[in-house]
Amino acid sequence: MTAGSTPDRLWDPVLVQRQARQLSELAATILTRQDGAVRAPDCVEMVNRVLRSRFAPEHVGALVQQIGEASLHLSHPRYVAQQVAAPIPLAALVETVVAALNNSLSVWEMSPAGTAIDRDLMRAFKRLFGYPAKADGTTVPGGAFANLTAMLAARASLAPASWKRGGGKIAVLAGSQAHYTVSRAAGIMGLGSNAVFQIPLDELHRTDTRQTPAVFRAARNAGFRKFMLVGTCGSTPTGSCDDLKSLADVARQEGAWLHVDAAHGGGMAYSRRYRFRLKGIESADSITFDPHKMLFMPLTASTVLFRQGRHLRTCLEQHAPYLFSSAPRKLPDIGQSTIACSQRLDALKTWLTWKAYSDDLWDELTTHVCDVAQTAYDYCARSPMLEPLHKPQLNILCFRLRHSTRSAGASDRLHWRIKETLNGSGKAYISSTVLDGRRVFRIVIMNPRTRDTDVIQVMEEIEKIAAGFITKRRSADRG
Ligand SMILES: Cc1ncc(COP(=O)(O)O)c(C=O)c1O
Repeated sequence: MTAGSTPDRLWDPVLVQRQARQLSELAATILTRQDGAVRAPDCVEMVNRVLRSRFAPEHVGALVQQIGEASLHLSHPRYVAQQVAAPIPLAALVETVVAALNNSLSVWEMSPAGTAIDRDLMRAFKRLFGYPAKADGTTVPGGAFANLTAMLAARASLAPASWKRGGGKIAVLAGSQAHYTVSRAAGIMGLGSNAVFQIPLDELHRTDTRQTPAVFRAARNAGFRKFMLVGTCGSTPTGSCDDLKSLADVARQEGAWLHVDAAHGGGMAYSRRYRFRLKGIESADSITFDPHKMLFMPLTASTVLFRQGRHLRTCLEQHAPYLFSSAPRKLPDIGQSTIACSQRLDALKTWLTWKAYSDDLWDELTTHVCDVAQTAYDYCARSPMLEPLHKPQLNILCFRLRHSTRSAGASDRLHWRIKETLNGSGKAYISSTVLDGRRVFRIVIMNPRTRDTDVIQVMEEIEKIAAGFITKRRSADRG
């Protein structure tokens, strides 16, 4: 390689140090800034300018800064929209090092430190959920992969020949609030969407365990004899936590595999105040848990755990002598038990944060975001204009306008327009969902720096916008 060649220029230490300074300073600003717009009102024009721009490698920082300004600002305390966290700065910053190392966890040979760290984190999570020593788990690139992996393991256990022969006539029974990735996994696995049976919800939006006998009967009547039962702890729309103890009893009686999708709520296991919501999780055959949700990790940090570790090793039967070692090793080739072949060292950020701050950090942060959701509930309960639709079980609250006399369609459109107006203003950012057939507002507190005063400000903005729309409608009706 001659001096001045393209690789020499790309890896030029002076240039790389300069780029590193620019990018890490920018990341630090993004992670710590609390002011400005949550989403710039002119973000579309801003990003169009970025797409048209040209820049020199030494000035990459300026361009990336513009991308940051056109992006959604998750570290803003009035970002209360979806289950994507304002990342803990240390966890976000170490991501550059993960990319720089670029060790793939697939095989131990390619990731000697990373494999050990991943294993150490899995040991911690096993203890967290009260799993026995023989339990095992793995990192996956998101809760969708975790649910799929758990369901593959369930199938391997219930219908051992299905990996080779395909199919497997297995019914999946899940509360109607279960995340869509459960039925998607059934589709991917070829179980068929007809094999997914929805269990109605109770008055707390949890899987109604009184209804499970009827749903098992319906599945049997449809010819199914093998079952996976899926519980959820924090459901996506309302953050509701199923009664896992009762679901475990049902699974035992029916001989079903019990999977608990705790992608969202799993982090509550750290909260001394709220961990009771996960009671019974230790009986689950498998658990989905996303540290990129309530442990405030940047995307992606996801895991799937099995009470019997052997299920992790049998659910993906793969032989690849160019990668996996058949000789016994102290540490496994993780690629044999995780879907991705190129598996990032996603465990590092969670492990590092835990090592630096201990379990106490997540006790404090998870408890705080749930407390703030409670404040939002209390505000709504007192508001003449907003009505809470459930008590928050975690950090999610759905609410709507009180006494809307409009037709269902008009009311739905009004809620949507209010949300869009608020989000377009840059002052706050919320989400919405459909609950009991009606469009409603939804907030999810995913930023540990969101305080009671922030969430009250969000509610006041919604009331102000709603009052504006209602006044306009009244004068239009009069005119
Ligand atoms: C309950 C639940 N399960 C699974 C998922 C999917 O997780 P991921 O987005 O990490 O793939 C989500 C996402 O919000 C979820 O809320």
